[in-house]
Amino acid sequence: MRVAADLDVKDKRVLVRCDLNVPIEDGKVGDDGRIRASVPLLKDLADRGAKVIVLAHLGRPKGEPDPEYSLAPVGKRLEELLGIEVRMAQDVVGESAREAVRATEPDPVVLLENVRFDPRETSKDDGERAEFADELAGFADFYVDDAFGAVHRKHASVYDVAERLPHAAGPLVAAEVEVLKRLTEEPARPYLVVLGGSKVSDKLKVIEALLPKVDKLLVGGGMCFTFLAAQGHDVGSSLLEKDQLDTCKAFLDTGKIVLPVDVVAAEKFDADAAHDVVDAEQIPSDRMGLDIGPKSVELFAEALAGAGTVFWNGPMGVFEMAPYAEGTRGVAEAVAALSSGDAKSGDGGALTVVGGGDSAAAVRALGIDEARFTHISTGGGASLEYLEGKALPGLTILED
Ligand code: 3PG
Repeated sequence: MRVAADLDVKDKRVLVRCDLNVPIEDGKVGDDGRIRASVPLLKDLADRGAKVIVLAHLGRPKGEPDPEYSLAPVGKRLEELLGIEVRMAQDVVGESAREAVRATEPDPVVLLENVRFDPRETSKDDGERAEFADELAGFADFYVDDAFGAVHRKHASVYDVAERLPHAAGPLVAAEVEVLKRLTEEPARPYLVVLGGSKVSDKLKVIEALLPKVDKLLVGGGMCFTFLAAQGHDVGSSLLEKDQLDTCKAFLDTGKIVLPVDVVAAEKFDADAAHDVVDAEQIPSDRMGLDIGPKSVELFAEALAGAGTVFWNGPMGVFEMAPYAEGTRGVAEAVAALSSGDAKSGDGGALTVVGGGDSAAAVRALGIDEARFTHISTGGGASLEYLEGKALPGLTILED
């Protein structure tokens, strides 16, 4: 795979696809992890004299401009982090974008508006995507993909543009792929995976793919209640996917799944609701489990001790609400404790990978030092699909 450092970009226009899909709260960027992760490439290209045109999506607008999904707040944060003026276009391939691209002489970085404001970006019709990709490709001499979080999408700005321009992977994509390869190709044993998040149905494929490969799979978060119910336990009013009970039973039959032994159960989904730690096998009928309990954290930490490789995806509870954050904090601490500084070079300690999305946001929100993990992925969905063994369009096209 060619990388951006191989391209001679001086005085060239470089179209860069970044994943800047970050939470926006009251018109301001919340967790800015993905923006920070995009900075090294953009800085490097600007330093090497390139004219940089950034493409990105935000949320899932319905194929037309929608101020709620404007990249304007992201552009502001990017400008602060880059320390370079970021010129924000008002559209994707319209007059404002064309003008911004023409003006890249004095302003080295241009951010086009949300690519998903154009319905052709996500179209299933190859011809429609091709037409949009032609317009985007017309802006530049090179295409660099650093949007790891979007490589599983066969979208115009991820896939079709790469077919039309000399292309390369950005350093973030290259680093993410290298770590995921280490997880899939002979991981150091024992190999443990911690999965959380709300729904087991979202993770069926990855569980199926991982079970034959891992030594143990620790399950927390909302999805653990369907497993507990599959064992015949009462889960009260906790999240339960009845149609997944048989699937969970089959997963449990592998003998590799470790479930919580206690949970924080609340009267309702509310930070101020009455709550207690209860036995995971006897959740009162009027209570819902919103976090794993302290004994479960201990159990998970014991299981993790001595691991050679750990992949963690999904929070253990509703970490956004303080009373239900301790399970996620405890597991994060247990995983972080496994990687020594040497782990980054692969010489010692465990390889610890946090798989994107909510778990990455949880690490930052709980104030846990990111450097204590070998790697924090910027792509939740993308890293799970990679581990499922799926071909990811955005990577396949870069490898061509
Ligand atoms: C993500 O948030 O996982 C990526 O940015 C991809 O977003 P999407 O799921 O809306 O395609």
